[in-house]
Amino acid sequence: MLDQNLKKFPENFLWGASTSAYQVEGANLADGKGPSCQDVKELPAGTASLDVCADHYHRYEEDIALMAEMGFKVYRFSIAWTRILPQGTGEVNQAGIDHYHKVIDCCLKHHIEPLVTMFHFDMPAALDERGSWSNPESVEWFENYARVLFENYGSKVKYWLTINEQNMLTLVGPLIGTLHIPEGCENIVKETYQQNHHMLVAQAKAMALLHKMFPEDKIGPAPNISLVYPASCKPEDILAAQEFNAIRNWLYLDMAVYGRYNNLVWRYLEEHDATPTFREGDEEALKAAHPDFIGFNYYSTSTVQHADVNEVLNPGADQQTARGEAGYYKGFNNPYLTKSEFGWEIDPLGFRANMREMYSRYHLPMIVTENGLGAYDTLTEDGKVHDNYRIAYLRAHIEQLKLAISDGIEMMGYCPWSAIDLVSTHEGIRKRYGFIYVDTTDEEVGTLNRYRKDSFYWYKKVIASNGEDLAD
Ligand code: BG6
Repeated sequence: MLDQNLKKFPENFLWGASTSAYQVEGANLADGKGPSCQDVKELPAGTASLDVCADHYHRYEEDIALMAEMGFKVYRFSIAWTRILPQGTGEVNQAGIDHYHKVIDCCLKHHIEPLVTMFHFDMPAALDERGSWSNPESVEWFENYARVLFENYGSKVKYWLTINEQNMLTLVGPLIGTLHIPEGCENIVKETYQQNHHMLVAQAKAMALLHKMFPEDKIGPAPNISLVYPASCKPEDILAAQEFNAIRNWLYLDMAVYGRYNNLVWRYLEEHDATPTFREGDEEALKAAHPDFIGFNYYSTSTVQHADVNEVLNPGADQQTARGEAGYYKGFNNPYLTKSEFGWEIDPLGFRANMREMYSRYHLPMIVTENGLGAYDTLTEDGKVHDNYRIAYLRAHIEQLKLAISDGIEMMGYCPWSAIDLVSTHEGIRKRYGFIYVDTTDEEVGTLNRYRKDSFYWYKKVIASNGEDLAD
């Protein structure tokens, strides 16, 4: 592999970055918003409450102006279901509808394409009380919510994402404050994958609905895809990597793209007496839906080895750290990779491998909906943040993105996490990802003033050169 004939990024490549409502907006009960599962969960010790976050709800104009200054072509943000439908179903909250009109209009004014995530880890609390995704009616709740979104914004928003990281909801949902397993549940695998099934059908119906209402709009899923490596060339490890790839990654994309369950996952579910119950029409709905593109979040690869049936494994895991399941696979520290300050492996080459693998399986255009480095940042006395570590991380990944494009992969855009500092899923605001520093801490709400980090100026140059100038 010589990598000599590098292709350029396409002219209309969508450079931007991402946020999610419950992590960035604050104002969590303002203007008629109902509580979501995030607002009623017990916060991890020592982490910022979610009622202020970066106060993006009140400061979106300033923030989007800063994104425009960086040259963003796209801004990926999520709509809070509970601003639109405070109880999840029923009455529409006009103030919530108006708010996102203003956010979308502000993006368009700055020539920034809005990329809207419909659902990012924030189930309405009122629907949690009705069983959340375990209730088969959740399919209709989501479809109804989708209809309200499309009716209101479908003519302005061209790009939609359905459910953020459905695979993480299924695999580590309780850790990030979502996905509830009813007390006394006897078969947790069955319960979990029944909820997952409802989400898959809900997603399929939302995709079909958008295509019917706005045939020109585009929609896709946004799972977290980490290619799984085998720890060695031992055949048992290869099989273990295939198992985890199927369970972690391919289930979600096979279903979104082809409308069928991955065969390895189906066998896994059969072994656990956990195959989901299909309602009438589910199969047809799953087959009928087709994404226009694939959005995916990428932070790292995973590495696994074979696990014996009787092994006792540490169940502790988050989105990127190793987990295991006796008889199938167990996490393995990849000795060739370094780790972030928060213990996530860093693997830019794996990013390219990930894109190659996805494209060869699905042949759809793709957009990176998250990628980034969570780190402790320091604001200097003169208002600077020297985050050269973040620049190094992003540069290494953009280099691989360019190589992936040269591999012939259709890449539509790149939206790292996150546009601006926000509260992490379970590690507070001390774990920062943004190009824009927000003056606040886990201990107390600060001035909330915004500061341009070094990575802000660097990314601005990257965008201005359409990915050609990656130097400091
Ligand atoms: C993804 C989520 O899992 O990773 C985001 O879509 C999240 O919501 C991001 O913030 C980074 O993870 P964390 O746990 O560091 O916040």
